[in-house]
Order: sequence, then structure tokens, then C-alpha cells
Amino acid sequence: MLRAIYPGSFDPVTYGHLDIIKRASGLADELIVGVLNNKAKTPLFSVEERVKMLEEVTKELPGVRIIPFEGLLADFAREMSAKMIVRGLRAVTDFEYELQMAQTNHKLAEDIEIVFLTTSLQYSYLSSTIVKEVASFEGDISQFVPSYIEEKVQSKIIKKGECK
Ligand code: PNS
Repeated sequence: MLRAIYPGSFDPVTYGHLDIIKRASGLADELIVGVLNNKAKTPLFSVEERVKMLEEVTKELPGVRIIPFEGLLADFAREMSAKMIVRGLRAVTDFEYELQMAQTNHKLAEDIEIVFLTTSLQYSYLSSTIVKEVASFEGDISQFVPSYIEEKVQSKIIKKGECK
């Protein structure tokens, strides 16, 4: 059985991520979406919220599981007995960082292959950061994320504004 991991921050999950999840799930028997709990960063959504949102938007996809992780991706992949790590490549600007990360991961876990899927053209500009930026100025994010995520982003951003 081939198990693959698609790791990321998913703060929040976008249509670009979903495109990679759908395509990557077709390449493996099981795809684990690994949600990074990075304690050094303050994401908009907690890891529990990000996991819940991913579960909601992938519930129709067979063979996809959402699991949070901390620490090294290579250790998480080993723990999950995954043989493949999938990352999406949007543009040349992603390449340098992704190559460095892939080569480091390969050093740390030689038996695990890192596979890149080029993002579908219609999502090549899209990122979680862009979604948060547009939402923070009350822009329309309906073309970037599913409606369930749109509502969560909007209510989180309104809540944050109220706290200031
Ligand atoms: O969605 P992102 O933020 O681009 O995902 C980055 C992620 C989670 C894949 C990356 O930061 C990661 O794997 N972090 C875990 C720590 C790690 O293993 N670092 C060493 C690889 S260079």
C-alpha cells in the first residue's frame, strides 16, 4: 500500500490546496494531509480549526485523512510509514525553497521520495496569505476558497478586529 503525505500550514485551505489534494490522492492508496502545528508562529486558525476545516472540505474524497503534526516532516512521514511527500509548485519563486526543503528531507529520510505537482494554472497566483490579505480588507474571497472556509475566515477576521 502506498501512503503519501501532503504537508502544509493550510491557514486556511484554499482551492489551490484542494486541487493538489484531489490530484495527489489519485497517485496513492492513502493520502495524509499533514497539518503543521508550528508553535513558533501565530496562525490565524489554531491547528484544531485547520484540521476541522480540512476534514469538512475533503469529506467526499476517499482515502484522504487529515492529521496534525509537530517537529520534523521527515519524522512524521516515518511515523506514518509514508513513502512519498507531495508538494505543489506554483511558480519559479517557489522552486528554490522547495528544492532546499526536498533535499533536506531526502537527507533526513532517504527512503522517502518528494514529488512535486505543478499547480493548475487557474490557481497559480493563489496562497493562504493572499486569501487573508483580501479578506482583511473585506474583499470577495469566494473564488479562492469553498464557502465553508469563506465563512470561517470572515468570522475570524471580524472577531480579531473586535479584539483590537
Ligand atoms: O504550507 P507551508 O507553510 O508552505 O508548509 C511548509 C511545511 C509545513 C511543509 C514545512 O514548513 C515543514 O515541513 N515544516 C516542518 C519542519 C521541517 O521538517 N523542516 C525541515 C525541512 S527543511
